[in-house]
Amino acid sequence: MTTITTENLTKATSLLSQLTLDEKIGMIHGAGLFRTAGVPRLGIPAFMMSDGPMGVRREFADDAWSGIYGSRDRITYLPCGSAVASTWNRGLAHSTGQVLGEEARGRGKDMILGPSVNIKRSPLCGRNFEYMSEDPCLTAGQCVPLIRGIQEFDVAACVKHFVANSQETDRLQVDEHIGERALHELYLPAFEAAVKRAGTLGIMGAYNLVNGERCCESPTFLGSVLRTAWQFQGIAVSDWGGVFRTKESAESGLDIEMSVTSSFDEYKFANPLKEAIRRGEIDERHIDVKVSHILAVMDALHMLDDAGRDDAMGARTATVTRNAGGYGGRAHRDAALAVAEESVVLLKNEESVLPLDPSTLDRVLVIGANADRVHSNGGGSAEIKALYEVTPLLGLCGQLGGNTEVRYIPGYEIPDSAGQTDRWQEESLHDTTAEAARTDDTRRGELREQAVRLAGEYEHVIFIGGLDHDHDLEGRDRADMRLPYGQDELIEALLDVNPNTVVVMVAGSPVQMPWADRAKSIVWSWYGGCETGTALAEVLLGTVNPSGHLPESFPLHLEDSPAHVLGTFGQPGQVRYDEDIYVGYRYYETKQVPVRFCFGHGLTYTSFRYTDLHVAVDGDMLRVRCDVENTGARTGSAVPQLYARLEGTGEDRPVAELKGYDKVRLEPGERRTVILDVPVADTTRYYSNATGRVEHASRVSVAVGESVQDIRLTGPANMSVSQRI
Ligand code: BGC
Repeated sequence: MTTITTENLTKATSLLSQLTLDEKIGMIHGAGLFRTAGVPRLGIPAFMMSDGPMGVRREFADDAWSGIYGSRDRITYLPCGSAVASTWNRGLAHSTGQVLGEEARGRGKDMILGPSVNIKRSPLCGRNFEYMSEDPCLTAGQCVPLIRGIQEFDVAACVKHFVANSQETDRLQVDEHIGERALHELYLPAFEAAVKRAGTLGIMGAYNLVNGERCCESPTFLGSVLRTAWQFQGIAVSDWGGVFRTKESAESGLDIEMSVTSSFDEYKFANPLKEAIRRGEIDERHIDVKVSHILAVMDALHMLDDAGRDDAMGARTATVTRNAGGYGGRAHRDAALAVAEESVVLLKNEESVLPLDPSTLDRVLVIGANADRVHSNGGGSAEIKALYEVTPLLGLCGQLGGNTEVRYIPGYEIPDSAGQTDRWQEESLHDTTAEAARTDDTRRGELREQAVRLAGEYEHVIFIGGLDHDHDLEGRDRADMRLPYGQDELIEALLDVNPNTVVVMVAGSPVQMPWADRAKSIVWSWYGGCETGTALAEVLLGTVNPSGHLPESFPLHLEDSPAHVLGTFGQPGQVRYDEDIYVGYRYYETKQVPVRFCFGHGLTYTSFRYTDLHVAVDGDMLRVRCDVENTGARTGSAVPQLYARLEGTGEDRPVAELKGYDKVRLEPGERRTVILDVPVADTTRYYSNATGRVEHASRVSVAVGESVQDIRLTGPANMSVSQRI
């Protein structure tokens, strides 16, 4: 794990003492859209940053939001955060991080702006696809290896957006009212794990306010929590345009101000801060603290190995100690494919409609705009200039080969004018995201009719629809959970003429599925990176046994979602997180609200038997052991999920909370013992409403299952664990 050492701190102190105020000021604000200024006379380079979670973003001009390269910034497009979480495979999260880190370094970056770990609170948040889960344990479990993977390549991760950037509407001004319990139990833990367990060298302050404090100047979050309680020594950078007040931000734990305009000298941490220091209104020591954080991180990344030497050219000196990185290589594409394969979720498969057997498939009809659409180039700052992107249609055609006739017909269309303008980021401080466009009803009817007519003639029909980055989009939340472009009517009509129609959804957040009871097979694919279509086709054709499990609940209707029933969401000005800790399954399971597909759900083409549960407290660890056997005919991966229910707290608690998980690949007939070790303290910890502190339950009940509802084994009820805390 890359960490900041005493040597890094000593070097930082020594360099700091040689810097002028102007030089220090240059290091703490954007001097380009994605960089700070260096100090050439001391061998301190500029600090180069880039988005984002799904690969290294294209190269922009230093002072304008225009791309500057033809082909040389094409990059491995990685599966989105939700897809990484959907694998429930820490090893794949790690390899995702390694690709991101090696490519960022290969592109000359010092910090990659990701991963995005905000909790998915509502199905409507425009950035849900970037985020991992509604659950802090799964988010932390996946983001820790991902961050470590990034930082193996002498690049800093920048976990974002701290904290609770769970809505896009009015994101620069919205004040989110969140209770202490929800903050401690849901919204902070992934960031805490990123700092303490992964050693992230960077963190990004969110745009929004929480409980009246702006995140990029918050004494609570940047101060008491991040710097004091968690002892974070790395760089806290603002979101682009997230700093509003010079003194408050300068005196907070924030180190670097970044923004979206090219008037760099007018940034709050530029001339306004310098003048305030000169007038004696702000103590220069605050700036020194920031600069020492930056220098220590630079040294940890081997950026300063030659600093202090005379460098007449003033340029960055090449060193042999720093990892060179590299991008676009075959190993990275393989890694992206491995993640995509394990991220696809088989939601439903009655009568074993899937997998389709390629040897008997002489013709197949594919319907739906998402079959033939690339998604890498959209979504906001997570956009990717992909090396390539295999669409589902390409994946299917490529794998079926010449003996199968694949006919494609869109069935609906995605109007061109929807989405963002090229200059959206520059304009983003004013919330100008365009409204999605609409196809007229006559055209929609014609497209539907053509598709339905053809579907009646085919035995095998695959519908591939869902959302796209005109809906899963930074800067705007969705208005509802319905599928756009008249897809619901189309799917119903297809099921009328062909009840075996396979329904595939490609999306980054849940959609209402009014036809779900009628469809025999439903497959969920996230924005799955450059090999997304390959992975989907492998699952449909059975060369890959699906093993993705939902990292979030899919409610039946938006009206069931706790953020909407109990709290408020999507309003400008102020939103209330009154659902408290009852987010996602914590709400649905406890209040017994039926969902379409529950948290942790995912089917396979095989079956698993769980037996022999042993639960014991071993030192500081809660050790949960059980056997899992593959009782089917295909190799597959089980996802044992450990849920705990805290007992005897005297306070209302969710009936289930995820505390651990694993992923186990088993050959047919193979049986393996799975051990889920969780520190007792992590299992029992809760934030008490009564005492206003973190407390520990003295008793827990545990259960292991393949989803929060598919519980296979239950441990001793009300087990005492108090003596071990
Ligand atoms: C986003 C960040 C991103 C930054 C730089 C902002 O609009 O919220 O996630 O890293 O832009 O592109």
